[in-house]
Amino acid sequence: MTEADHVLLARQLRYYRARAAEYDATSYGVETGARDAIPALVDAMGIDGDVLEIAGGTGIWTRELARVADTVHYLDGAPEMAALARERVTASNVSFEVADAFSYRPQRRYDVVFFAAWISHVPSTKFEEFWSVVDAALAPGGRVLCLDELPARAVNEDEIDGSLATRMLNDGSRYRIVKVFYDPADLVARLHHIGWDATVTPTVHDWFVATAVRSQRQG
Ligand SMILES: C[S@@+](CC[C@H](N)C(=O)[O-])C[C@H]1O[C@@H](n2cnc3c(N)ncnc32)[C@H](O)[C@@H]1O
Repeated sequence: MTEADHVLLARQLRYYRARAAEYDATSYGVETGARDAIPALVDAMGIDGDVLEIAGGTGIWTRELARVADTVHYLDGAPEMAALARERVTASNVSFEVADAFSYRPQRRYDVVFFAAWISHVPSTKFEEFWSVVDAALAPGGRVLCLDELPARAVNEDEIDGSLATRMLNDGSRYRIVKVFYDPADLVARLHHIGWDATVTPTVHDWFVATAVRSQRQG
């Protein structure tokens, strides 16, 4: 990555702030019905207890998490996304916060830390820093659940250059954002290297579900 991380991340956040209003019409294969798989995927995760959802977007997953969890604390860096999520998810067990995922200092610990379509937007150079935030949010014995796209989905990007993708909004504006397509074995190895035991399972629509727990190995 040649650009400074902070420049890239600021632009990526600007992109999502600008995209918020069009996100639901252009995400999760809304045109193919892929999004309909989400409730069953959440059911299969066996979630209970208190959940922190990082980069919750317009609340597509939040609503499903709220169904199965005791509580959900939603976090996103874009106020426009959070406003839409608040409209979508009115369950009383959900709280909302606008905050940057990299500098976040959790006020408490959670049984589950969840993020969908987010780890692929974390620059490789910020991977360990991001997972230290996750670690600070996770209760002893807790687990991380993460869903994202397999490399097979890279064909859906108009332009991809290494770990950067160029995205265009309805008004024609273009943004270069981070997009890392993880091979499951590489993600497991990368997490292992920084002290997490993970399994990464391919699932429907060329998505994967990763489960990670703090490694019991002596560091
Ligand atoms: C691809 S969307 C995923 C949204 C949601 N999880 C979903 O699956 O629909 C990425 C989300 O990351 C948020 N985001 C971008 N940069 C962020 C940052 N630095 N801290 C927290 N959230 C950020 C965006 O606002 C956007 O909602």
